[in-house]
Amino acid sequence: MKIAFIGIGNVGAALGDRLQKLGHDVTIAARDPQSKSVQEALARNSALKVESPTTAVSTAEVVFLATPFPAINSALTPLQSALDGKILVDCTNPVSAGLKHGLDSKISGSETIQQIVPHAYVVKAFTIYGYENFENSQYPGYGDLQPAMLIAGDDLTAKKTVADLCSQLGWEAVDTGNLSMSLHLEHMTLLWIKMARVQGLGVDFTWAMLKR
Ligand SMILES: NC(=O)c1ccc[n+]([C@@H]2O[C@H](COP(=O)([O-])OP(=O)(O)OC[C@H]3O[C@@H](n4cnc5c(N)ncnc54)[C@H](OP(=O)(O)O)[C@@H]3O)[C@@H](O)[C@H]2O)c1
Repeated sequence: MKIAFIGIGNVGAALGDRLQKLGHDVTIAARDPQSKSVQEALARNSALKVESPTTAVSTAEVVFLATPFPAINSALTPLQSALDGKILVDCTNPVSAGLKHGLDSKISGSETIQQIVPHAYVVKAFTIYGYENFENSQYPGYGDLQPAMLIAGDDLTAKKTVADLCSQLGWEAVDTGNLSMSLHLEHMTLLWIKMARVQGLGVDFTWAMLKR
């Protein structure tokens, strides 16, 4: 697939690198091709392409948004028409001081993003764990059980495409429902960060889905 990344830092570079190595055509939508994050992503994987944001997004089938949450307006507003009809994978998390929800839990970040780009198919994914798990999703010793990637979105076809990408990256995609469910995923992020990075459990854990 043709995939573009808006934001190519910890999260974007980890996912972009792995998706390119799986055979996808990955382009960085670079506001500044010389920026540290772009140059570091290219040093990690020289097969990534670099284009202007408008060109990268216009030609992509799937676009990943992996900027800091406060950057969503400046990153997305110039791309509103380029994102019409595109799948937009929202990897962002609104987080405020003290590990609180950045929008006071009144609305999810993903729904806020959907308001900026009303004609994109926004799917929340790749948020509830640290980027280290996006670099390496392998948890040996559990047989066929894969780590769970919880996703949310309003469009079933878009979610199917994102679920396929999750699967290729070693995750069991768990569809939690409509985009409004993103609020709960954003709280799961806060839980994961608190456990992993604050309370000292470390980053090498995920959740998995058991069913009967
Ligand atoms: N870190 C994690 O473990 C983790 C895990 C899951 C989700 N997330 C979420 O994922 C998002 C990215 O986190 P990260 O750790 O990857 O951040 P990061 O390493 O700081 O990278 C941010 C990227 O966004 C770009 N950017 C910043 N402002 C922008 C703007 N206005 N327009 C376009 N691009 C802009 C930066 O480009 P420049 O280099 O040009 O500044 C950089 O490439 C955040 O919302 C975070 O909450 C993080």
